[in-house]
Amino acid sequence: MAHVSDLISSDIEQYLKQHENKGLLRFITCGSVDDGKSTLIGRLLFDSKMLFEDQLSAIEADSKKYGTQGEEIDFALLVDGLAAEREQGITIDVAYRFFSTDRRKFIVADTPGHEQYTRNMVTGASTADAAILMVDARKGILTQTRRHSFLMSLIGIRHIVVAINKMDLMDYSEKVFNQIRDEYREFAKQLDLDEITFIPMSALKGDNITALSDSTPWYHGTTLMGFLETVEVDDDRLQRNPFRLPVQWVNRPNLDFRGFSGTLASGVIRPGDEIRVQPSGKTSRVASIYTYDGELDEAVAGQSVTLTLADEIDISRGDVISTTEQPAQTAEQFETTIVWMHDEPLLPGRPYLLKLGTQTVTATVTAIKYQVNVNTLEHTAAKNLALNGIGICNISLDRAVAFDPYKENQDTGGFILVDRMSNNTVAAGMIHFSLRRSQNIHMQHVDVDKAARAIAKNQKPSVLWLTGLSGAGKSTIANLVEKKLHAMGHHTYLLDGDNVRHGLNKDLGFTDADRVENIRRVAEVAKLMVDAGLIVITAFISPFRSERAMARGMVEDGEFVEVFVNTPLEVAEDRDPKGLYKKARRGELKNFTGIDSAYETPEAAEVVLDTTRCTAEEAADQVIRQLQARGIVPEL
Ligand code: ADX
Repeated sequence: MAHVSDLISSDIEQYLKQHENKGLLRFITCGSVDDGKSTLIGRLLFDSKMLFEDQLSAIEADSKKYGTQGEEIDFALLVDGLAAEREQGITIDVAYRFFSTDRRKFIVADTPGHEQYTRNMVTGASTADAAILMVDARKGILTQTRRHSFLMSLIGIRHIVVAINKMDLMDYSEKVFNQIRDEYREFAKQLDLDEITFIPMSALKGDNITALSDSTPWYHGTTLMGFLETVEVDDDRLQRNPFRLPVQWVNRPNLDFRGFSGTLASGVIRPGDEIRVQPSGKTSRVASIYTYDGELDEAVAGQSVTLTLADEIDISRGDVISTTEQPAQTAEQFETTIVWMHDEPLLPGRPYLLKLGTQTVTATVTAIKYQVNVNTLEHTAAKNLALNGIGICNISLDRAVAFDPYKENQDTGGFILVDRMSNNTVAAGMIHFSLRRSQNIHMQHVDVDKAARAIAKNQKPSVLWLTGLSGAGKSTIANLVEKKLHAMGHHTYLLDGDNVRHGLNKDLGFTDADRVENIRRVAEVAKLMVDAGLIVITAFISPFRSERAMARGMVEDGEFVEVFVNTPLEVAEDRDPKGLYKKARRGELKNFTGIDSAYETPEAAEVVLDTTRCTAEEAADQVIRQLQARGIVPEL
């Protein structure tokens, strides 16, 4: 069983060969704190003789000094020793360990058991073939057990061992084992888990780890090591899935060669095979397959290759090349599961970057259909998703992407969301299916377009986006700017916060989520008005950079002029034209901008107005001069 084989002394060549060809099993361990994960991993490392002598004598000494196990070795010290490194920021939250036996190599991702660590678990588990779920026999099935099981089913881990540990403390009772097993089976019925194996064990005493224990004569199943060494690793699954090559880059060293490079996410491809490029849908045939080492007759999942095609077709980074028989699907709206991993909550309507394979697009959550309480599996309504929240969400992209449902292909169906401002990864997600409504709605061509309408109005359509605190002077200045433009003969429209909130947005309040939705709608309306050929002036606090960037992104370059009405909080509060600051200070008005709700100062506004140094009239003139300088309105 152990890694140190007799072959080492007798036939080293043969040994190395055997070692090289051994299969690899990736697994994770999870469970609550103190369930014995560290002890178990220490035990597995020890039993596979992957510990060096000096490490061993160090733990033996430490066990005597700090251990909790009397004269016995405290295996937890081995693993927890690494926790200290973790605190120093040397290792990442998910610690990977390697060991091997004569039959297999193993990579185990040790994920912390603390409540807040959904994220680490998702990261560690996404490539795992199997999971060991530790249950303390004294405590039975806990909230954590349920939470982790749900995550495992979401991620799609196929083989689960429920390791009922610390049986030594329950007198190796068959009754206790059966009770926990039955309770877990009942719970697991609601989950999509393929195969569950239950093993009674004591990681500490070594019962049923590498050999069946005399203490559990009633148990006739496999040992944990036996399970790990024999559980089927579906290496071929990726190859059996239909061919998918997400294009990483277009390889064009000279005019005669045009290749498409990337790593096969799944399937097999040979020269002559018919292919379809998604999302464009164009078809061709594979002419040749190159790798670093030369030409291939065949490439399989996991290989990095460059394909050349029989026809000249337009392909760019992010496209997916599929077989024509079973192509990837394309869509721009999906139902998904989203696992939120950031302190700042997910806000529907806010644009995030979505990365799916090599494709990067802009995505917004259009609806949180419900949130799943991972402890009870109950569905609850939600307006946003907080850290570790898991929601079933509809999402909408700014353009179509190629995909497969996550259940069919994790590589082409799993995505991450990235915050556009901070570049942090904020969520992991899985595509369920595309929403049919998006497939049935197509853009209708209209003959009279923005350019035609702009010519008729003799102006350059644009958006003047005023942002600043409540009481900064936005509405006053916006009103003056509109009057001046109107007098100059321009066609304008002023969208003002308080006014729009009396109509289109009267269903919205002042939570972060509502403000995001407020600005999203206003940006959409402004975009329509620009399309109508108007000069649109908006006066909204619009406190978040992310949504201001979204509004900017909705119109063409040069059509968006951000005007920061820069009035310090003290000055705005002193003016307090509507008495709202006083109300907020008295605690009668919640979520008031500048008091208990954030305002993110613009970093690169085209115009900054310092209202402490000029009158509203002067500020409006400054805006008009800027519009003239930018060619939006002619100089007089
Ligand atoms: S935004 O944050 O969503 O852009 P918007 O500009 O539409 O806000 O509305 C702001 C106006 O609503 C303020 O000028 C003020 O008159 C009023 N208001 C009422 N409650 C609040 C609040 N909690 N925070 C800010 N403004 C409020």
